[in-house]
Amino acid sequence: MLTSESLARIDREIAKYPADQRQSAVMAALAIAQEQQGWLSSEAIESVANYLGMEPIAAYEVASFYNMYDLKPVGKYKVSVCTNLPCMLSGGVDAGDYLKKKLGIGYNETTPDGLITLKEGECMGACGDAPVMIVNNRRMCSWMQPEQIDKLLAELK
Ligand code: FES
Repeated sequence: MLTSESLARIDREIAKYPADQRQSAVMAALAIAQEQQGWLSSEAIESVANYLGMEPIAAYEVASFYNMYDLKPVGKYKVSVCTNLPCMLSGGVDAGDYLKKKLGIGYNETTPDGLITLKEGECMGACGDAPVMIVNNRRMCSWMQPEQIDKLLAELK
């Protein structure tokens, strides 16, 4: 199910490791599979595992551990709000509540138009910038007070 383009990208990741340690590329390969499909189905995880020569359950363990992987379909934009302790103490929970109210959804839900999925995230290593959010696992957003959240939502819509 992986496209030739995805396989070529995975090959470049595999090349970063010794030839007998293909499975070291599992995190990157799962991310590539997720980019191709928008989320990680069981078939996608199994394809990655087979390509890397590892047991599917081992790849599934990685995919289910890190919250950057989506084991169910998500909206066009996934907004993850950090609610770990430092952010929690600095407005992270309030930022999440504000987003929930604005979007009319809770965590792990997607807006009816399929545009935005809201998630709780783990520490993103930017605790001093709280409240912190990340969009589609790539775009960090710092100091997300209501005004900044409104700007972000206007941009995504
Ligand atoms: Fe939120 Fe570290 S606790 S970025």
